[in-house]
Amino acid sequence: MSELQEELRREIEKRRTFAIISHPDAGKTTLTEKLLLYGGAIHLAGSIKSRKTQRHAVSDWMEIEKQRGISVTSSVLQFDYDGCRINILDTPGHQDFSEDTYRTLMAVDSAVMVIDVAKGVEAQTKKLFKVCSERGIPIFTFVNKLDHYGKAPIDIMDEIENVLGIRSYPMNWPIGQDGQYLGVYDRRNKKVLLFAADTSHGQQARIADVYDPEDPAVVARIGEENFQALKDDIDLLDEAGEPFDMEKVNAGELTPMFFGSAMTNFGVQDFLEGYIRMAPTPQPRPSSDGLIAPDDEKFSGFVFKIQANMNPAHRDRLAFIRICSGKFERNMSVWHERSDKLIKLAQPQQFLAQDRQIIDTAYPGDIVGLFDPGIFGIGDTICDEHHKFKYADFPVFPPERFARVQAKDTMKRKQFVKGMEQLTQEGAIQLFQQAGAGMESYIVGTVGTLQFEVLEYRLKNEYNVDIIMQMQPYEVARWLAFEDGREVTPASLKGADRGMFVYDRHQNPVLLVNNEWALGWITDNNPDLLLNHVPFDKKEA
Ligand code: G4P
Repeated sequence: MSELQEELRREIEKRRTFAIISHPDAGKTTLTEKLLLYGGAIHLAGSIKSRKTQRHAVSDWMEIEKQRGISVTSSVLQFDYDGCRINILDTPGHQDFSEDTYRTLMAVDSAVMVIDVAKGVEAQTKKLFKVCSERGIPIFTFVNKLDHYGKAPIDIMDEIENVLGIRSYPMNWPIGQDGQYLGVYDRRNKKVLLFAADTSHGQQARIADVYDPEDPAVVARIGEENFQALKDDIDLLDEAGEPFDMEKVNAGELTPMFFGSAMTNFGVQDFLEGYIRMAPTPQPRPSSDGLIAPDDEKFSGFVFKIQANMNPAHRDRLAFIRICSGKFERNMSVWHERSDKLIKLAQPQQFLAQDRQIIDTAYPGDIVGLFDPGIFGIGDTICDEHHKFKYADFPVFPPERFARVQAKDTMKRKQFVKGMEQLTQEGAIQLFQQAGAGMESYIVGTVGTLQFEVLEYRLKNEYNVDIIMQMQPYEVARWLAFEDGREVTPASLKGADRGMFVYDRHQNPVLLVNNEWALGWITDNNPDLLLNHVPFDKKEA
């Protein structure tokens, strides 16, 4: 084994890269903050705050992002714990940010699912879980808010199984009842962890007292009744519960489950330690040249997110790269697959809460931010020029909201076009041109309405262009082709005027209609028409 390979293996072994998925308000921000607290990356909880502003007016979205440091779009936090280097990719919780969230999930090796004990499995958790389970990545569950009344632990287990279709293995079990929990029983170590009353309101790391369950002091502390209930529950879990099986965990078929309370730090440390022990190190990735192993000496990575304006002082744009193999070094030259060019990676950035640091080296599992002069697009591969390949395409999201957009001032057309193209490349919007219409306006498609406001804000602030935007009544887009390969045009498609006939950026024909029902007439009258939710050469998310 070469020296480099030894170094790579050592570093890969240390790394854990994950995202937290949850429904808004389940406690993702609080848990993230507490993990940083235990990791020593922050000293007092409360530094990552401003939660109340999460459902803010849209126009100050960018402002808020700057102020918070941990952003509403995904950003990356890194810290060390117990010899491990942990990368948390923050995923935005707001529904309208879902595309960014989904893309972030392409860049992680595992996910942590936070569930509010009182609310159980909620809508957004379900959606995000689906993306993770389709990727087959391990999912760890943190059942949060144990400090107040909630569903019984056993009911949460049932709900996870029934709603998400995954079985869970409780790693620990709450002692006490309904929000009056005194601690947890650690099933693996067969220890009781009790928590002293928290006087710091969760601001300081809290270390549990560890006891042997046979210790009479335990019974005295938790009371005979709670002790008996705990024994019964554990017996039941041991006999009737799913046995622990690491292979199933790795395949995303069994989720190790931890109970705790992020706010009061109850169970947070056990969770962190359990997670580190079980979570996968950076994994091989599929590419056009087969699976690429992380300890392959040749560098490779892909862009999973592009973000403008993170730093108020510089109007810059960062491309976030997940490193997949080899060693990243500042100033290295890599091959950019899409443009087929060699590029130099000059000022790589890493992130720790508010601070950005210039970094010299990074390893598989790490995320680096690169200044993007406008060449990167979502899903782009960068790799060694002596081993060229492409990582698998990101799934594409069918657009559901449409607007006609043009520059208010026709003199600003050049900046307008530049801005629109850049935002399209970032994956923030999808761009269409109406058949037969002039070039002065575009039809923009998005997944959520919030993206239109972001579009307006960014064109004004980054490109100095005011726009006129007219929302369109369409909610469904279909890419079109005839079975025999003849061209689909407004003239050859019967009923093309029942919706809006447009072309995507690659001149593929697309029909926008009001709803699925409206498609009925089109399909009935064009018997050999093929329809797709996304371009025919892409995979739908
Ligand atoms: P999110 O990122 O998933 O949206 O959730 P976030 O952490 O912002 O938490 C949502 C609310 O739930 C916050 O209350 C937070 O304090 C509370 N919370 C988080 N963990 C726990 C917990 O373990 N127990 C209890 N009881 N509450 C918890 P808030 O009132 O909206 O905000 P704040 O005033 O506390 O900042």
